[in-house]
Amino acid sequence: MNYQTAFGNLPWLAVGHLHPTPTAPEATHAKEHAAPSVDSSMSGRLAGRVALITGGGSGVGAMTAHTLASEGAKVAVTDIDEPAAQAVAHQLTIDGFVASAHALDVADEASWIRVVAEVEATYGPVTVLHSNAAPTGASHMSRDGDVEDMDVELWDFIMAVALRGSMLGCKHLIRGMVDAGGGSIVITSSVKGQTGSSYRVAYSCSKGALDALVRMVATRYGKSNVRCNAIAPGIVETPGLRETVPPDRLQLLEDAHLVPRLGRVEDIASAVLFLASEESSFITGQIINVDGGLTAHTPALSPPGSR
Ligand SMILES: NC(=O)c1ccc[n+]([C@@H]2O[C@H](COP(=O)([O-])OP(=O)(O)OC[C@H]3O[C@@H](n4cnc5c(N)ncnc54)[C@H](O)[C@@H]3O)[C@@H](O)[C@H]2O)c1
Repeated sequence: MNYQTAFGNLPWLAVGHLHPTPTAPEATHAKEHAAPSVDSSMSGRLAGRVALITGGGSGVGAMTAHTLASEGAKVAVTDIDEPAAQAVAHQLTIDGFVASAHALDVADEASWIRVVAEVEATYGPVTVLHSNAAPTGASHMSRDGDVEDMDVELWDFIMAVALRGSMLGCKHLIRGMVDAGGGSIVITSSVKGQTGSSYRVAYSCSKGALDALVRMVATRYGKSNVRCNAIAPGIVETPGLRETVPPDRLQLLEDAHLVPRLGRVEDIASAVLFLASEESSFITGQIINVDGGLTAHTPALSPPGSR
């Protein structure tokens, strides 16, 4: 089952950053749109929790929003692409979950201050952060080559979104988590932060630095019952992937994973749910690879025909 069938009632996922239909509301709040017969926040593995997801308008973040909401969390779906966040939150509330949409540029501290205040006023303290936004667009990725060709403005931009964005999320949410008795921060990193490659130097460095941020936050706030972990995905099949990567290159990527497929957004969302929930209460400061075995071997020494 791919994520389109699993998430078939959310058609925008099939086309990535597609904006919602014109009927989507300007602002979506649970009280206005939740189906009255369902109070999903009363049960589930995240019952009573408030989750904020960055980059929640698309791909991994949109699936995480659905997964956390379906386990009882009240979900603040945030994205720089406000219509995309609205579409995700709108569908969640139609499905009977508790969700709201918020425009948030993770690189902008004033934006964080405004959104945290909005979410806390609506739901109370945020106790789960999925810090997931990154500049994944082809216009940035295609220019992020090797270090000799690095455009300094592009480097700064990627660091501002991917790295500063997560730092700001921690900065503005940890105090509320501590005061609430604890919380869980899950950062979307990447295997590219752990292994060398000949392109995407800025993106890879931002992910490696995020892994360090995880350990810093986990160390400082563990005794306050605030945990911090990262998930490092392998290659995940988001809609943009097939548009931007040629088929022969995709086959190479698939071959390098040990399982017979690329990753799915559900694979990452399930891991976020686990790390957000009490089931993982003894896990902190870890980078968990959800990568189909991509980093477990050396592809040149284990070509597909030999396994
Ligand atoms: N897809 C993969 O193969 C893969 C692999 C490893 C890691 N990741 C990571 O997974 C995360 C999600 O990526 P995805 O594949 O779902 O991509 P995506 O493009 O579907 O989602 C990224 C979202 O982030 C949002 N965003 C971009 N800049 C932002 C900003 N400044 N402020 C707030 N939101 C912003 C975008 O609007 C988009 O909705 C990223 O951190 C990415 O680096 C993805």
